[in-house]
Amino acid sequence: MAQIDWGRLGFEYIKTNCHIEYTYKNGKWDDGKLVDNDTIEISIAANVLHYGQAVFEGLKAFSCADGKVRTFRDKDNASRMADSAKYVSMPEVPTALFQEAIDKVIKENIEYIPPYDTGGALYIRPFEFGSGPVMGVNPSDEYKFIVYVAPVGPYYKGGIKPVNAIILDDFDRTAPNGAGMYKLAGNYAAGMHSSKLAKEKGYPIVLFLDPKEHKYIDEFSTSNFIGISEEGKYVTPNSKSVLPSITNKSLIQLARDLGIEVEIRPIEFEEVKNFKEVGACGTAVVITPLSSITRNNLTLHFGEECGPVFMKLYSTLRDIQYGKISDIHNWNREII
Ligand code: PLP
Ligand code: COI
Repeated sequence: MAQIDWGRLGFEYIKTNCHIEYTYKNGKWDDGKLVDNDTIEISIAANVLHYGQAVFEGLKAFSCADGKVRTFRDKDNASRMADSAKYVSMPEVPTALFQEAIDKVIKENIEYIPPYDTGGALYIRPFEFGSGPVMGVNPSDEYKFIVYVAPVGPYYKGGIKPVNAIILDDFDRTAPNGAGMYKLAGNYAAGMHSSKLAKEKGYPIVLFLDPKEHKYIDEFSTSNFIGISEEGKYVTPNSKSVLPSITNKSLIQLARDLGIEVEIRPIEFEEVKNFKEVGACGTAVVITPLSSITRNNLTLHFGEECGPVFMKLYSTLRDIQYGKISDIHNWNREII
């Protein structure tokens, strides 16, 4: 095993001991196998390579204060992946199979789980794709479901340090009646050009507006948009072109627990200048505050430090995930 400097982990692929691989053929999933070689062989005509039948998930397992390892809300990831799969005519991976796969891979890769108090987590990447050959535009008749894991630290350098976001009006990530609410691989491909342009201009993150009018905030290519309004409410878009984030759902619950009012509604770009805190939330980014949002010649500034409400929500979420405080909503599942 490679020496891992736990404190310096970012968000990059690291090969671990093995992954797990299931095949769907003749209407059913096989028993799966643990594989140490991290390459696969598929037909050059596999659907995924041409017509993009591919969906994925992202979740984390944590080394907790009591020495146990727990995943966070993995059932929700299972049902979201089933919804995504259905949208691109792929068979559902049942929740029990999804969880079995996760359990097996984690148990085989214990030494890759960042130890408690290093700030890291084991990122879990389940994905499903059409592996059978097709020429015409049709669903595949064979599928793979694979889960791999990798130890991770913060997605954006600096962790909870605010980052600068940009809105690029020439680009949309999804369509008004499109697939933004599903976790399709193709959605991420559609965001890559704008992300590259943004990075070249010095912005690590792109904020997308609603694809119909460019009037409302949608989300980022990696995460949902959250804000703390002038009146101190937790506000997040209810757009049908954004991914239903499990982190956002959790933060909404934690905000309510703390007595913070929550509004899930369309957010006009015009309104954001009045927000006290703005940020991105998701499994990989946790909460990443924004220091600014730039759109053409306008830049809105929100400060160089994480605001107090996001800080409180961030630490409460992390404390639940690391088992430092009681998991009152029953979000964690013990694996080891
Ligand atoms: N939005 C997009 C586009 C994402 O890729 C992600 C990450 O999965 C999220 C939102 C956040 O979702 P979750 O909190 O379930 O990780
Ligand atoms: C996650 O947060 O798990 C994601 O899948 C986002 C990904 C773009 C890194």
